[in-house]
Amino acid sequence: MCGIVGYIGTREAYPIIIEGLKRLEYRGYDSAGIALYDGKDLKVSKTKGKVVDLEERSEKEITKHGNVGIGHTRWATHGVPNDVNSHPHISNSGELVIIHNGIIENYESLKKELISRGYTFKSDTDTEVLINLIEDVKRQENVKLGKAVQIALNQVIGAYAIAVFDKNKPEEVVIARLGSPLAIGVGKDDFFIASDASPFLEYTKDAIYLEDEEMAIIRLHKGIKIRKIKDDSLVDPYVQKLQINLEQIEKGGFDHFMLKEIHEQPKAITDTYRGRLLRQEAIIKMAGVEDNMKKFLNADRIIIVACGTSWHAGLVAEYIFEDLARVPVEVEYASEFRYRNPIITEKDVLIAISQSGETADTLAAIKLAKSKGAFVFGVCNVVGSSIARETHAGAYTHAGPEIGVASTKAFTTQITVLTLIALRLARAKGTISSTDFRHHLLELEMIPKKVEEALKSDAHIRKISEIYKEAPNMLYLGRGYNFPVALEGALKLKEISYIHAEGYPAAEMKHGPIALIDENMPIIVIATKKGHYEKVVSNIQEIKSRKGKIIGIVTEGDVQVKELADHVIEVPETLESLSPLLTTIPLQLLSYHIAVMLGKNVDQPRNLAKSVTVE
Ligand code: AGP
Ligand code: GLU
Repeated sequence: MCGIVGYIGTREAYPIIIEGLKRLEYRGYDSAGIALYDGKDLKVSKTKGKVVDLEERSEKEITKHGNVGIGHTRWATHGVPNDVNSHPHISNSGELVIIHNGIIENYESLKKELISRGYTFKSDTDTEVLINLIEDVKRQENVKLGKAVQIALNQVIGAYAIAVFDKNKPEEVVIARLGSPLAIGVGKDDFFIASDASPFLEYTKDAIYLEDEEMAIIRLHKGIKIRKIKDDSLVDPYVQKLQINLEQIEKGGFDHFMLKEIHEQPKAITDTYRGRLLRQEAIIKMAGVEDNMKKFLNADRIIIVACGTSWHAGLVAEYIFEDLARVPVEVEYASEFRYRNPIITEKDVLIAISQSGETADTLAAIKLAKSKGAFVFGVCNVVGSSIARETHAGAYTHAGPEIGVASTKAFTTQITVLTLIALRLARAKGTISSTDFRHHLLELEMIPKKVEEALKSDAHIRKISEIYKEAPNMLYLGRGYNFPVALEGALKLKEISYIHAEGYPAAEMKHGPIALIDENMPIIVIATKKGHYEKVVSNIQEIKSRKGKIIGIVTEGDVQVKELADHVIEVPETLESLSPLLTTIPLQLLSYHIAVMLGKNVDQPRNLAKSVTVE
């Protein structure tokens, strides 16, 4: 995920692009760069860091003059954030320049092919491969830039929003999209290109939103031609009048980043398994796991360390790893692990989970495990973060930037990555049959669609939130795979609404918490069809006889719990091992709506920070 801005017209492009990038920084902020055509030549300035760092750098490096340009604020997916990996990227000839938002899945094979043809690469990015592929096609086929982009994109697997131009033909910018957003602002004598409309709102309210699999050739004074990338057919540009303000755009039209991120989960989960879950071939491809398969297979046990929500993802992983890959797992709070003189040997694999990749306790736990000779694997969201660098190998979650302090999409994408690892190991160890493996791949692939379904309960959940928003306490219960989800649901509520909440394994209730239950106590019970359903139903009976208010999270079409509960929220059916990816969704929405109704600061709750870099 990143922000892209482009301009072609009669004004100075530099200030438009820089201001636009600042508005898009919420989409990614690890590096920034700009390419301008100054009337004679191409000028590029790029740097690790924020847009202000780029401004400082370009001040020294380039004449900030020119009427055509493209700019980028990066959220790295391939290659750590540094100056070289920053966009724009230039082709080998120095003629073509590109900015890209997304992931080119098959970049490795394309890169090999290009290297065999004499191309060289400066960066580790997938994007540099794409611009050289375009150059190669342009040469080989002897076609114009637009055609070359089209042919190249038909060879690419993945997601992209790109803008490309040729310094020898700077009166034309070619853009294309698949899976990443792209808007065109139509001015009087000029065109603006951006990931969303915020960079050009003050110049024009006329916008064209490119659809997936469409590309546009934008020519100065000549207008726009939109085509389908696949079959070359022409598309009539649909220009709409925008009636939206800057803040609304940043948050994608949602009131808060947290809500936006909750709704981003179908896309985030897809991005997480993109290029890794290959259902047709019935394989899982993860370089970090593949390259270290021996370490995983020889491990006596897996130790998972993390904090907060990431620790909850670790607990879900414990069920998955033990269930599918039959390897013993211990899940530890990083803060406890690091200080309790744990027994760690060279035969241990330690998995550290962290959205930010900067959590001090998790980092310390990694260093401790490394000092004892364990193999350390990271599951991080932020590319190039301290934890990502400190671990021996890892797998990124590719959830895109998470701005809301309450973690949502990071949790579901962590579970997705960990599920992929568990399945890969299970296959390698032979602890899962090929039919079962295929079934898991199929079900996992369908999760984003099912998350979308689950999100449709939003209005219903808001009504339930209205009823219970004043409750001083709440209890969350779940069993098996859904016990960690109960913990996560309670954490979400505590964090943003400041209501006291506890998560428990449903059967533990009678060992203590049941004493709390009376007619004023709302209890959220996860009671999906697969896995301990009958047992959970008995737990619900026990609550009912103590007059507790029951909110059941149930599988679509459930009858039994519906009869007992005060309210039910349905989620689609899936495998038990994947159910946390769905049951989490209503709990996120419930805490969100309650917090909003109570007037709390949802995105920046009191006393909390997005990354806890102190112990
Ligand atoms: C989640 O909602 C919290 N804000 C917090 O528990 C968080 O998950 C924890 O601090 C760990 O952060 P990390 O994943 O960035 O390491
Ligand atoms: N995959 C590209 C990179 O890592 C683009 C990432 C983005 O969307 O910012 O550079």
